[in-house]
Amino acid sequence: MLKIRDFAPADAEAVSALIRQTMRVSNSNDYPLERLQPLIDYFSPEKVLLLSEERHCLVAEVDGCVVGTIALEGTELCTFFIAPSYQGIGIGSQLLAAIEAVALAAGIDTIRMDASLTGVEFYTRRGYRRTGGELEGTAGVQVGMEKRLAR
Ligand SMILES: CC(C)(COP(=O)(O)OP(=O)(O)OC[C@H]1O[C@@H](n2cnc3c(N)ncnc32)[C@H](O)[C@@H]1OP(=O)(O)O)[C@@H](O)C(=O)NCCC(=O)NCCS
Repeated sequence: MLKIRDFAPADAEAVSALIRQTMRVSNSNDYPLERLQPLIDYFSPEKVLLLSEERHCLVAEVDGCVVGTIALEGTELCTFFIAPSYQGIGIGSQLLAAIEAVALAAGIDTIRMDASLTGVEFYTRRGYRRTGGELEGTAGVQVGMEKRLAR
C-alpha cells in the first residue's frame, strides 16, 4: 500500500540509495553516466540528511519501503526520484500533487524547477510550462519550468 509522508532522519540511507540507483538507471538514458557520477557521489546519506533540514522533503513508501522522494526548497521543486521498478504506476504523480499541496499551504503560488530532460514531458503533462531558461547543470542541460498553482 502506498503511503506519502514527511521525510524522517531514519530515511537518509534509503533515500540516498534510491536517488543513486534512479540516476544510474533512469537519468543515464538522457545524460552520460560519467557526468552523473559527481551527483551520484554527492547524494550520500549524510548529505541527504543535511539537505532535509533546508527543505520540505516527502517520501513515498510501499509496504514500508521507501520508493520515491520529492522536496521543496523555497519555491523550488528539487530531488524528485521514483525507484526505477516503481515508475509508471502513478507514484510520481501523487508525490508531485502532495508537494504542490505543501507549497499551497505555505502560501506559494508559483512553483518552479530546473527539470532534468528525463522529467520535462512528465511535468508538461502536469501543467508545468517551460520558462525559456536552460542551464548547464552538473550532468548536462536542464530546463527551467514553472506552474502557477490553483487556489
Ligand atoms: C519523472 C519521474 C519522477 C516520474 O515518476 P513516475 O512515478 O514514473 O510517474 P507516474 O507513474 O505518475 O507517470 C509517469 C508517466 O510515464 C508513463 N510511463 C509508462 N511507462 C513508464 C515507465 N516504465 N517509466 C516511467 N514512466 C512510464 C506513465 O504512463 C505516465 O504517463 P502520463 O504522464 O501520460 O500519465 C520518474 O520517472 C523518475 O524518477 N525519473 C528519473 C528521475 C528524474 O529525472 N526526476 C525528475 C527530476 S527534475
